[in-house]
Amino acid sequence: MTDTAVGLIPAPRRVEKLRPDDAGVPIDAQHTALAAGPGTEGVARLLRATLGQGLGLPLPDGEVGDRDTITLRIDGALEPEGYRLTVADHRVEIVGGTAAGVLWGAQTLRQLLGPDAFRRAPVRGADTSRSLPALAVEDGPRFAWRGLMLDVARHFMPKDGVFAYLDLLAAHKLNVLHLHLTDDQGWRIEIRRYPRLTETGGWRERTKLGHRASPLWDERPHGGYYTQDDIREIVAYAAERHITVVPEIDIPGHAQAAIAAYPELGNTDVIDTASLGVWTTWGINPNVLSPTDTTLRFFENVLEEVLELFPGTFVHIGGDECPKEQWKASPAAQERIRALGLADEDELQSWFIRHFGRWLGDRGRRLIGWDEILEGGSSRPAGGLAPGSAVASWRGYAGGTAAARAGHDVVMCPEQQVYFDHRQDPGADEPVPIGYVRTLEDVYRFEPVPPEFTDAEAERVLGAQANVWTEVMEDRRRVDYQTFPRLAAFAEAVWSPLPPPSTRDFAEFNGRMEAHYARLDALGVSYRPPAGPRPWQRRPGILGRPIEGPPPIV
Ligand code: ACM
Repeated sequence: MTDTAVGLIPAPRRVEKLRPDDAGVPIDAQHTALAAGPGTEGVARLLRATLGQGLGLPLPDGEVGDRDTITLRIDGALEPEGYRLTVADHRVEIVGGTAAGVLWGAQTLRQLLGPDAFRRAPVRGADTSRSLPALAVEDGPRFAWRGLMLDVARHFMPKDGVFAYLDLLAAHKLNVLHLHLTDDQGWRIEIRRYPRLTETGGWRERTKLGHRASPLWDERPHGGYYTQDDIREIVAYAAERHITVVPEIDIPGHAQAAIAAYPELGNTDVIDTASLGVWTTWGINPNVLSPTDTTLRFFENVLEEVLELFPGTFVHIGGDECPKEQWKASPAAQERIRALGLADEDELQSWFIRHFGRWLGDRGRRLIGWDEILEGGSSRPAGGLAPGSAVASWRGYAGGTAAARAGHDVVMCPEQQVYFDHRQDPGADEPVPIGYVRTLEDVYRFEPVPPEFTDAEAERVLGAQANVWTEVMEDRRRVDYQTFPRLAAFAEAVWSPLPPPSTRDFAEFNGRMEAHYARLDALGVSYRPPAGPRPWQRRPGILGRPIEGPPPIV
């Protein structure tokens, strides 16, 4: 079996076919056992659950290294997320640098077993026998941060959808789920101290249907939120899959849902914040947080609860798209600028972000924010950011480049390539087409490290993430359509070794996608078919905002 026939995605570093005449290792319910070496028990549990569901394999306990046994083992000499998978001599062995590496190796094994390994129940009878090709795989990720951002604020994704996405991330060897939990249009995480954040901020009366210029409304109320136990469950489910959940609490812009719940958080000396509801349309919102002590204490208290729930190092505090008009008009904001000796409103935002960067640093965590967090910081050391802060570069590569040069870590997510709300084909029947065309091939060609980076700057690139903004994605199926198949190409861009540019072979990748579409079908993912949307995937009559021409790369 050639690698193309197997269709491993993301492509491993090295696949060696052992003994072309070898019939491979039979896998069946009667004979195949599973042996979990120390530290791999969690992976064994997942593998048993997965292959038990899809293939009806009970995988009883076996002895490490035995015939007809899948052995899982940790070898600290391998890189942490690296693994070696060997199929030979009636044995399967997966050795990982850590349990995470073993899990990624197990995902490769699952792909080798065929699309039925991605189903929820066996469809071919439990006594079907399968044969794995004799081969050796050596693999490990190119980047440590391989992420997907889900905007669960614009349209709430009930937690069963989040679990499904965690499964999908794990199947693609992705390891960061960034949840955009708060925005103008909704607050999606229970905060015990401030119940109105979800009571009031957790739903909106109606929703603009399509781009903000569209005349249409969905008159149904929209809402939902995760309780703290839901969040604990999501974080634990992710941890079993070696995925870190990064929460985002977006401040000081994109915060109208919080202001609707607690009007004192807004610029009360400029507008009547008590009259604001949760926003029902899209775009950049002038109603931003006031830079007062009340606001700082409020969000420190919110973050105290967030830190209890999310054990990961990074906490995303947004920082994007904060219009400064209200701060310009606000006597309180102007007094704050004077008292702090700042030059202008941009420096005020930089101060605001720095406050939370230090606050998180004091608690052993690190701030990450969108690249606007560098604005207003140019006259200060380290671009005005607190030590340890990191930048998610979305307006092209420029923010990430500036951040890396200022000594900060960077996650690349340029909207020119990895914003999955953008349409994936120029055709007129793309549902609610937004922005530029970013095809599967465009995403496949995404390169997280700009070519002009020095080695030291490249070291600052923790990795990359694809971002799924959900203004025009009302449910899981719409999210699936925008996210797949492009997430498969993204997974390869962040996992697989970088081939020289002239050898990045989209046709070869697309050949492997044939096997991958069968996996996505087995998983029930409503991806965009290569030939275009199915009739029910179209949204005729709902206005988008297509932009013509190639996207500018900044
Ligand atoms: C963003 O797309 N506003 C980060």
